[in-house]
Amino acid sequence: MTAPPPNAPIEIFLSGPPGLEPLLRDEVAARGFANPRVVPGGVICDGGWPEVWRANLVLRGAGRVLARVARFRAMHLAQLDKRARKVDWASLLRADIPYRVEATCRKSRIYHAGAATERVCNAIADALGQPPVDKAALVVRVRIEDDLCDISLDTSGDALHKRGHKQSIGKAPMRETLAALFLRACRYDGTEPVVDPMCGSGSFVIEAAEIARGLAPGRDRSFAFENLACFDAGAWGQLRSDTLAPNRTALTFHGFDRDAGAISNAVQNAERAGVAESTRFTHQAIADLAPPDGPPGLVIVNPPYGARIGNRKLLFALYGSFGAVMTARFKGWRVGIVTSDKGLARATGLHFRNVSAPIPHGGLKIQLFQTGPLK
Ligand SMILES: C[S@@+](CC[C@H](N)C(=O)[O-])C[C@H]1O[C@@H](n2cnc3c(N)ncnc32)[C@H](O)[C@@H]1O
Repeated sequence: MTAPPPNAPIEIFLSGPPGLEPLLRDEVAARGFANPRVVPGGVICDGGWPEVWRANLVLRGAGRVLARVARFRAMHLAQLDKRARKVDWASLLRADIPYRVEATCRKSRIYHAGAATERVCNAIADALGQPPVDKAALVVRVRIEDDLCDISLDTSGDALHKRGHKQSIGKAPMRETLAALFLRACRYDGTEPVVDPMCGSGSFVIEAAEIARGLAPGRDRSFAFENLACFDAGAWGQLRSDTLAPNRTALTFHGFDRDAGAISNAVQNAERAGVAESTRFTHQAIADLAPPDGPPGLVIVNPPYGARIGNRKLLFALYGSFGAVMTARFKGWRVGIVTSDKGLARATGLHFRNVSAPIPHGGLKIQLFQTGPLK
């Protein structure tokens, strides 16, 4: 079994938050990847290694990009051992780059993940002449389900929400990948202003500004695929320079927070992301919020929710005052609220046209509550 040549089709798995897979599929399709389809926990599409690199570079909603390098039946450990040895490891992994193997087993005759890990480690170690290394950054993932074994390379390394810009954070930051998918759920396409009245570290505002500027989310970070034997630095350099051509935007994206520390974090994060010119962060409480000059757009907010920060009773007043400000001052704007608490969402008094499925986030289930343009 040999590694696919650079342009041979590979099944590419893009992990995404359970509940938001269809939004990720829409992004994958909009970015021109072939044949995207939803599966539990993500989206699968087809492509060669250049698409694997491009997916890491341009997709805002994917958590990781896995490239499947082998699939075979494995009814018992000896068969797993034999078939894992047929993979052309030397064409995929480099002997000088540490790797490790992580296996999971479900509904299969091979039920011991540790034993499965050991067999695949032995196959790779014999091919490369190097044993695996605990905590190595490069991960080979083995998934055995219904006796079918998939072997994939985690081509991202650090999870993709780690874009490298949001280094200053407060108590409950939203992951960039989730922020991007919620913006997509609100049909935000980079052509309208965005306001986050409780912006914390600025995730929504920075993400919205980057989308408007056409900045690729992975532009400032490295990826695990750069350490694979099948990596072509010249082709990657060309792809990056073809992709990294930012637009201009006349729009300004606004964040507000009553916490001065949060505002200073957001300003630093926006500077690191290269969107300081398109963003404005102001130390101001919700009661003083007014819409910026210009056409209406989208208000998107992730207010505190009781289980993590703040006291639920006080939060009813906060959500109530947010709703009152929206109703009185933000005519024509759409509102998206991300919260774990339906009761608090209702306390805004806003009429929600759309409520998303509950999405796991930081040990809680959060939902996006969306209004139409306010009348
Ligand atoms: C859950 S955090 C937002 C996290 C943010 N989405 C991020 O990614 O970092 C909620 C924020 O609401 C702010 N906040 C709470 N009450 C506020 C008020 N009355 N006016 C403005 N901001 C407020 C808090 O300071 C906190 O930064």
